[in-house]
Amino acid sequence: MDGNGRWAEQQGLPRAVGHEKGAEVVRAVTRAAKARSIKHLTLFAFSSLNWGRPTQEVNALMDLLCHFLESQEQSMIEEGICLRGIGERSFLPQRVKSLLERVEENTNQNNELFLNLAISYDGRRDLVKATQQLVALACQGLLLPADVQEELIMQKLATGNTPDVDLLIRTSGEQRLSGFLPIEACYAELVFIDKLWPDFTSQDLDRALDEFESRQRRFGLTGHQLELSMSPA
Ligand code: IPE
Ligand code: MG
Repeated sequence: MDGNGRWAEQQGLPRAVGHEKGAEVVRAVTRAAKARSIKHLTLFAFSSLNWGRPTQEVNALMDLLCHFLESQEQSMIEEGICLRGIGERSFLPQRVKSLLERVEENTNQNNELFLNLAISYDGRRDLVKATQQLVALACQGLLLPADVQEELIMQKLATGNTPDVDLLIRTSGEQRLSGFLPIEACYAELVFIDKLWPDFTSQDLDRALDEFESRQRRFGLTGHQLELSMSPA
């Protein structure tokens, strides 16, 4: 969800206003995703690298996160949204941590839409954490080299049992992943949109979904093989 700051700056507004507008778009896009029967949505809200921003902006983002969690808790419960935070939780201010835990607990029975909020997240750091967990098990004699399979590694990532990413959208014209779900999105279709995140609408989501539908996902096979596998026996 990139471009909040530039959106505000273009209008001579403080960057925090862009983040506020961005949060409104999060609500709208989450609803739009659910209405389109999307089951899993992961939003990159705050990268581990974003801790390096000016304190004032980081504080504004943390306040906004609290406001978002508090104001959305009830509607998430009612709309069947299961929220989970992914990222380095220990770095978060206590008030954000407590709220996140509360909303996670109060929505954990929901199964209409699984919403992962990546906060203080970086995919490479997540992989390091997963590896540490596996090594700890190995040190206790609970894990052998042959036990370390793809499935186990995927389970140990913060995304846990979330399926692989099918479609990854980045706004604001930047064409890079910036540490977002590097393992989970290794076969994802990438869609880059020039619009800044605060201007992103459900029509843009639809356009990205249409683009996704138009692509042939071959997973290493030939187009001919795919056609054969799809034709009736
Ligand atoms: C995305 O908008 C939100 C966060 C990273 C928190 P940015 O704040 O990165 O906006 P730009 O890239 O500076 O425009
Ligand atoms: Mg940015």
